[in-house]
Amino acid sequence: MIVLKSEREIQAMHESGKILAACHREIAKLIQPGVTTWEIEEFVEAYLKKHGAKPEQKGYKGYKYATCASINEEICHGFPRKTPLKSGDIVTIDMVVNYNGALSDSAWTYPVGKVSKETEHLLAVTKESLYRAIEVAVAGNRIGDIGHAIQSYVEAEGFSVVRDFIGHGIGNVIHEDPQVPHYGLPHKGLRLKEGMVFTIEPMVNVGTYEAVRDANGWTASTADGKYSAQYEHTLAITKNGPIILTEQ
Ligand code: MF3
Ligand code: CO
Repeated sequence: MIVLKSEREIQAMHESGKILAACHREIAKLIQPGVTTWEIEEFVEAYLKKHGAKPEQKGYKGYKYATCASINEEICHGFPRKTPLKSGDIVTIDMVVNYNGALSDSAWTYPVGKVSKETEHLLAVTKESLYRAIEVAVAGNRIGDIGHAIQSYVEAEGFSVVRDFIGHGIGNVIHEDPQVPHYGLPHKGLRLKEGMVFTIEPMVNVGTYEAVRDANGWTASTADGKYSAQYEHTLAITKNGPIILTEQ
């Protein structure tokens, strides 16, 4: 069941998203060789607290941390850890902010030090695919238009789109309807309506789109060990087009 949001609810989620976006801007400054994702985790906890917000992922379905920190071949749901990042790595920091009960969800992949040309291309294409998808997220279009915008562009650039994890509606809980695949056919699927709030969060791989699960029950990595990147925004469908609630 899709819960449509009122203007007031969307406004509240936007306030939450602004805190999240500002937090990501601070994280960007911290990323460099030698820093650990455990330090990022602690920074985020303190940052949210200072701004009167809460890390919604912590305790969600037994997840233990404020952030997901996925390094290199990890696709998503990596645990923050004490291993120092090194030049050439990439790290995706994903978090859900709860501000006065209003949620927002955004992930960003950061390059560490100097990354390869291929990695730069991966990051640029993944980010661009998110913005291309947001452009077609307008009332009257369909869910398939979003997936198609991402998949057709990403595959033309020689990369692949993860199938096992998709975007999602978000409201009082992190995951609600609709489901938002990052692949698909134009003009197919559910019609987008004013008041829908959902994430678009393409995970894009250098090699195969196939994922393998870690024994920790959470972390997914690429089956071939090649890099994976992700950019995620929460957006609202309005009569004036999509509003990005978690803009950087
Ligand atoms: N932020 C994630 C998403 O984009 C949700 C992570 S689930 C958690 O869907 F359990 F790790 F919190
Ligand atoms: Co997320």
